[in-house]
Amino acid sequence: MLGKTNMIFYEPGQHKEHGFSQDPFKAFCSPRPIGWIGSIDNHHRTNLAPYSFFNAMASNPPQIIFGSGSRPDGSKKDSQRNIEDTGQFTLSIVGHALKEEMNATSIALAHGESEFESVGIEGAASYLINPLWVAKAPIAFECVYRQTIDLESWDSAQRNYALIGTVVGIHVSEKVIVNGKADVTLWQPVSRLGYYDYATITEVFEMLRQ
Ligand SMILES: Cc1cc2nc3c(=O)[nH]c(=O)nc-3n(C[C@H](O)[C@H](O)[C@H](O)COP(=O)(O)O)c2cc1C
Repeated sequence: MLGKTNMIFYEPGQHKEHGFSQDPFKAFCSPRPIGWIGSIDNHHRTNLAPYSFFNAMASNPPQIIFGSGSRPDGSKKDSQRNIEDTGQFTLSIVGHALKEEMNATSIALAHGESEFESVGIEGAASYLINPLWVAKAPIAFECVYRQTIDLESWDSAQRNYALIGTVVGIHVSEKVIVNGKADVTLWQPVSRLGYYDYATITEVFEMLRQ
């Protein structure tokens, strides 16, 4: 088959040969919503961290998925470890007003140390499960863990996983509801692009299905 002119073709992992200074893959998969994952360990110690390999996969019942890479030493990140141990997690939605706090919680603390405490984020109690959610978040899900998928990885020490959960409870601020509908421009969800870039939604257009 003939290649198209004015298009670059590259095989993932070989991007530098084509002039990219950094792997552009995540920029191509933009925007990605950010799932701010709350969990607890077996000793009820709280944890909070952002994950942008995140999305909804079904709505009846609502199910979400997020991707977790291992730490450089090959160990699982705290959110994954806690969720697999306890079977529960929360997922708070990051509005524009919370972007700095969200970023601060990406710090790699020792297992058992809480980003709620170190960053100074107020946690709210869940109704159906034990982990906290972010009290100032416009929306938060209470989730029950279903399964982990062991993903491919190029490096046997750097592992990749996807975790799936069912949303069993939803908290939503009355401030973002207008005429019975959620208005995203009122919380302006923060999404991750490539590199260190982010975007928010400030405008919406409607397109009815044919
Ligand atoms: C906006 C943002 C998105 C992130 N998305 C991911 C992701 O999808 N997967 C991942 O493994 N790490 C991601 N990280 C890095 C984790 O938040 C970071 O490794 C954190 O320390 C994990 O915390 P934990 O060990 O408490 O779970 C992201 C960081 C930021 C700031």
